[in-house]
Amino acid sequence: MIETKRSLELVTDHTYGNWKPRKGWKKPLFIAKAEGARFFDDGGKAYLDFSSQLMCSNLGHGNKAIIGAIREQAERLAYVAPSFTCEAKARAVEALLEVTPQELDQFFFSTSGTEANEAALKIIHQYMEPQRKYKIISRYRSYHGSTSGSIALTGDPRRWFAEPVNKIPGVIFAPDAYCYRCPLGLEYPGCNIQCAEYVDYMIKEEGNVAAIFIEPVVGTNGIIVPPKEYLPRLREIADEHGVLFVVDEVMSGWYRTGELFAVDHWGVQPDILTAAKGCTGAYAPVGITATTSRIREFFEEQCFSHGHTYTMHPLVVAAIPAAIAEYGKLIATGLPRRASRHLGQGLQQSMERHKCIGDVRGLGHFWAVELVKNRETKEPFNTKADKAALKPLLADKLAAEMLRRGLYVVSWYNHFVIAPPLVITEEEVDQGLAIFDEVLEIADKRTD
Ligand SMILES: Cc1ncc(COP(=O)(O)O)c(C=O)c1O
Repeated sequence: MIETKRSLELVTDHTYGNWKPRKGWKKPLFIAKAEGARFFDDGGKAYLDFSSQLMCSNLGHGNKAIIGAIREQAERLAYVAPSFTCEAKARAVEALLEVTPQELDQFFFSTSGTEANEAALKIIHQYMEPQRKYKIISRYRSYHGSTSGSIALTGDPRRWFAEPVNKIPGVIFAPDAYCYRCPLGLEYPGCNIQCAEYVDYMIKEEGNVAAIFIEPVVGTNGIIVPPKEYLPRLREIADEHGVLFVVDEVMSGWYRTGELFAVDHWGVQPDILTAAKGCTGAYAPVGITATTSRIREFFEEQCFSHGHTYTMHPLVVAAIPAAIAEYGKLIATGLPRRASRHLGQGLQQSMERHKCIGDVRGLGHFWAVELVKNRETKEPFNTKADKAALKPLLADKLAAEMLRRGLYVVSWYNHFVIAPPLVITEEEVDQGLAIFDEVLEIADKRTD
């Protein structure tokens, strides 16, 4: 066993960490084990996981069935090259065909959400090339991944650091369906969803748009649930102009919002859907790019010019059918429905108690609590520019204090992402909310 202090040093002295200056990668929490909705440090202190790690451990920690499926596969056949097939691959496809929307029956497997989106980009570009369409409409409030293509599609400050080198031609940004701070200065429903209508205008004016590429419920950048007309209208606009409609369900998929995929809330069928994170409950790294068979037909003769050494890695894909079965059992218990309702109500009640909360919004186990200095003016404590300038952020400070008190919550520049595992109980929700409430008092004192 490596002693904890040495383990920390090895990792922090010799690895880069994610999205932070090296000096900010000093004292990560050392996690020794995890079970259900909790994880434990090496001293045995428990932490309630209110964000499913990175909104991916949807089935909670320590799930024996999924661990068993991976172990069994490791013993039977750990790896074969993408040019071979095996039972684990067949089982993964069979399980996916049972749950994914009927039209989406062609899959490409990778090992992350980023890669799932890169594959989608290649497919879009190749498929639309004969029509000389290549532009992609994304939105400012978005994150689609860390590599050149997917970061170019991203609206959040992580793209700013990557520019100008990591840029692909043709990405344009549409206004967000962010009603709390409408970028068009309008109010729903009187707005007649001009944010969607503007996409129609963009496509007409640009002339060569290949795809609309969006998170149906925006994840890290604010858990933005669009008005009910928004996605059906975007689908219509895409059809009217012969543009592909692509949904990134990397975070919003796998029952995070209460339905298997977020698009299911509005009955919208995409041409391409990308998934990752929850598709194995984060027990193994998987990215999935699902397309219609209409798109597949195009590649019968054209080279599908994409691939990885670990495309359909047997160990990884073995986790997919196991996770799908576990989701089925868990949903059937009714617990996720009850706990998510309880969580939503609890957060709304928090808003009544705290002046520092400007907005609470979400669906299922997927909520944002947005902070304000002043409810009337909606002035935020911190902005996107503060994040990009690496300024200390109030939301981060509060999240650190919550962690100290035994609650893990992801903070982004002016809001919290509350997304516990689907196994969380109503009692655990109450325990988490109690700590959340205590700590928000610090921010209340800073309001006008
Ligand atoms: C919506 C969305 N797309 C893509 C990604 C990238 O996924 P990964 O971090 O697995 O590469 C993320 C990650 O948080 C995400 O939230």
